[in-house]
Amino acid sequence: MSLDITTLVKKYNTPLYIYDFNNITNRYEELKGAFGGKKSLVAYAVKSNSNLAVIRHLANLGAGADCVSIGEVNRALKAGVKKYRIIFSGVGKRDSEIREALERDILLINLESEAEMKRVEMIAKELNVEARISIRVNPNVDPKTHPYISTGLHENKFGVSLDSAKRMYIYAKKSEHLNPIGIHFHIGSQLTELSPITEACGIVADLVRSLDAIGIDIKFFDVGGGLGVVYDDETTIRPADYAKAILSQIKGLDVTILSEPGRYMMANAGIFLTSVLYEKVNGKKRFVIVDGAMNDLLRPSLYGAYHKIEAIRKEGEEKSIADVVGPVCESGDFLGKNVMLPKMNHHDILVVHSAGAYGFTMSSNYNTRGRSAEVAIFDGKDYLIRERETFEDQIRLEESCDSNWQS
Ligand code: LLP
Repeated sequence: MSLDITTLVKKYNTPLYIYDFNNITNRYEELKGAFGGKKSLVAYAVKSNSNLAVIRHLANLGAGADCVSIGEVNRALKAGVKKYRIIFSGVGKRDSEIREALERDILLINLESEAEMKRVEMIAKELNVEARISIRVNPNVDPKTHPYISTGLHENKFGVSLDSAKRMYIYAKKSEHLNPIGIHFHIGSQLTELSPITEACGIVADLVRSLDAIGIDIKFFDVGGGLGVVYDDETTIRPADYAKAILSQIKGLDVTILSEPGRYMMANAGIFLTSVLYEKVNGKKRFVIVDGAMNDLLRPSLYGAYHKIEAIRKEGEEKSIADVVGPVCESGDFLGKNVMLPKMNHHDILVVHSAGAYGFTMSSNYNTRGRSAEVAIFDGKDYLIRERETFEDQIRLEESCDSNWQS
């Protein structure tokens, strides 16, 4: 992104998220193109960045949406994603969410347990509709990623075993209100090795073949998300190799390939800008205190995740090690540890890289801090896509209850 960051900061202030929409386009086209002429749908994982403008941009390119709450389904619809390109996953859906998803007539509801299947069947019966479903299979494959974002092992809460999946398909096939047309797996996030994906695809493709043998026709083969990105010096999987690996495992199957990329699409399309407040030294430790914090970008505090941090307009200056910390009252509130930085002054700007995915969406109001503004850059122009949250925004739902509290 070739941006005049100083101008953007003057215009929008900090902390600030900035997304390069041209970069998102390129990422989408590369992945979609990798599947060539094969039937495929890129269902963007809305959880990674659910700003309406981001979803709208992807919807205009033809993307679908992978959603994990009815809120995300409604965001996708509002942003213009076609209902037949929306899937609803998640390990625990409330009745009201299932009902609304059925009423909205989206492509697939993804089931994660036998109990959930029965709920969906019951609600579909009440509504007198047939629920198009897929079943999330847990292929018990080690994705070789951070344990918090690993999901495809039996020890994780996601999906069902191959055996119970088969039982569920047989049940669903007989049900008047269930139409089992999809199969799904997602083994983890930030995957940088292809072999676990290939292995999982092979296992799930075999299940599809055995279902076919008993008359259950799976039309959607959902490989989940998980494509890793470069935060530091990782070697990542090229979309072309990813697609090739998947296609090699599903030979002979007449299915549409669904993929659910989030991080791949957004992480490196986004940066987070924060201004320096002060510097200080405690003993031998140097701290650069900034106006962005764990409530804005939680990944470093929660996962110990690395995000490259760079000072703007400080090229050539001598650097030393510092921790970049925010104003939140937690020792775990840091954006970077042991970062090489030049001497920083009040109002200097730091760029936190690779912040487009799971950045804003995981932000909170902790310490009554308003959430950041978000800006899109498209063809060299900047567009405000979310206003900075004000104090009034934060207290609105409490103020409206003022009269309830009589003490
Ligand atoms: N599909 C399913 C069913 C998922 O659970 C996820 C992510 C995705 C797709 C998208 O995965 P991606 O392509 O983004 O890897 N907050 C964590 C990441 C949690 C991912 C949860 N599931 C982080 O900041 O690293």
